[in-house]
Amino acid sequence: MSDDDTEETAVTSEKLVELAKRRGYFFQSSGAYGGVGGFYTFGPQGAALKGNVEDAWRDRFAVAEGNMEIDAPTIMPEPVFEASGHLDGFDDMLVECPECGESHRADHVVEDNTEYEDAESLPIPDVEEVIAEYELVCPSCGAGLAGQAVETFNLMFETNIGPGDSDPGYLRPETAQGIFVEFPRLKEYARNQLPFGVTQIGRAYRNEISPRRSIIRTREFTQAELEYFIDPETDEPDLESVADVEVTLYPASEQNEADGEEIETTIGAAVEEGIVSSPWVAYFLGVAKPWYEAVGVDMDRFRFRQHLSGERAHYASDCWDAESEVDGNWIEMAGFAYRGDYDLSKHDEYSDDRFTIFKQYDEPKTVERATVDPDMSYLGPEFGGDAQAVVGTLEDLAARDRSAFEGDSVEIDLEGETHEIPVEKTGFAVEEQTEAGEHITPHVVEPSFGVDRLVYTVLHHAYREDEVDGEERTYLELEPEVAPTFVGVFPLQSDDALETEANEIVDDLRAAGLSVTYDDSGNIGRRYRRQDEVGTPFCVTVDFETVEDEETTVTVRERDTTEQKRLPVDDLAETLAAIRAGELAFDEL
Ligand code: GLY
Repeated sequence: MSDDDTEETAVTSEKLVELAKRRGYFFQSSGAYGGVGGFYTFGPQGAALKGNVEDAWRDRFAVAEGNMEIDAPTIMPEPVFEASGHLDGFDDMLVECPECGESHRADHVVEDNTEYEDAESLPIPDVEEVIAEYELVCPSCGAGLAGQAVETFNLMFETNIGPGDSDPGYLRPETAQGIFVEFPRLKEYARNQLPFGVTQIGRAYRNEISPRRSIIRTREFTQAELEYFIDPETDEPDLESVADVEVTLYPASEQNEADGEEIETTIGAAVEEGIVSSPWVAYFLGVAKPWYEAVGVDMDRFRFRQHLSGERAHYASDCWDAESEVDGNWIEMAGFAYRGDYDLSKHDEYSDDRFTIFKQYDEPKTVERATVDPDMSYLGPEFGGDAQAVVGTLEDLAARDRSAFEGDSVEIDLEGETHEIPVEKTGFAVEEQTEAGEHITPHVVEPSFGVDRLVYTVLHHAYREDEVDGEERTYLELEPEVAPTFVGVFPLQSDDALETEANEIVDDLRAAGLSVTYDDSGNIGRRYRRQDEVGTPFCVTVDFETVEDEETTVTVRERDTTEQKRLPVDDLAETLAAIRAGELAFDEL
């Protein structure tokens, strides 16, 4: 991208944020109290656009894929996040200004002011060194940051469940955990058959050190996540259905090269050539690309970028982001992570439930099993209250390493102390058993979408300026499927007959399921401009011909071309509904 392009898009973004506030897309929350960083309210247009994007996501990733949708609480108890690793590992790097006391994300300070592109993956001492070496300064007051300690800062919002502080809870940092913790029940709904997927669209919370760039990095945001549970040994995705999808990929190997480049390829070729190692991740990239295009992301400003090894979240063994170009920067809109068995194994280990699935063999198998049946009249007096723990340790050892029982005594470790137990007292035996199946821990593939960032991208990529009848015009070229309002209806001027007819048309269009706005204020040109600016694809004007002619007709104006056609009112609702459903085009009328 040239510098000129960068400048042009940066200006667009400023204008977009101003338009968003003026026209009710989004604005900083609690403005009456000075506002608070990282919290935004979606106004009437924004809430409708966001809702339409969420519906489109639900249609594609839940309904069309045959996945289940759930709706879990946003506050979860501490043990969930001990198990998930978020309590220990969900941190950002913080550096505090010695002069003004403002906190900043140390990796962002480095990335914004040096050639380092992925400072998040650097160890803390290296970040401190870079800050000193480049003499980086506080972005708020300009004081030097060299010598300041860089610290880890956990991003979860903590709260207390009930009175007192004995029961800490956290606002979920990802909707995913609400799905993982319910796996023992969800697998029953899936009749214990892999693969199956569970989706959730909901709020997540991260106490960002420095929220920035409008709704791109906020402290409360909406995720649309799919957790897809697979048997890694046998389940395969329907790659054929997405093999021809063309994609721009930026693999880690290319990012690590000085002259590395994005690769133009297809999903099929990317899997065949090992560029995307997991066919499951590749499958969801192939599903996502046309979906992003359908909701209005500009495909010339879209790519999939693989995470570098130091950048991956603690649970992911591979991850590709869907990125869009906004303001001359690439922003993450979604992550497609291979989470393996990380989450289910952890919840299995930390909770009282089982996070496995019983996998039936095609034929029952006869297997040898090493078992123990310890002599409690020996263990009881010998170990007292620890006797049961010794039994558990012996069982684990027999299953893991039967050679440990080959001598006269077996050595076990109990709370750091070594004990010898005569093998004859352990009841060790190797038996043949017939088994119908085994318990396996499914692996998880996770397409995780950030809804707010997508809304921002859709608006940014839809922003247009042109000239109509010698006047400058701003309009949003939103896809009809997601535009907050599909049609504006206007009586040409203040007149009872025109207003009555226009209101009847509004009723008809709403009855056909279309989102309609009625506007009778100001001249007709201003009313068109208002709808153009919020991205309403069509406007219908009721004039004197409508009420006087034998055949009742109206003017229908298309937003992008401003072309107008005279259409009969009788089948207006049907025609516009067909256009919204993509079954008919305006220029075919
Ligand atoms: N569940 C993935 C994420 O929140 O980033």
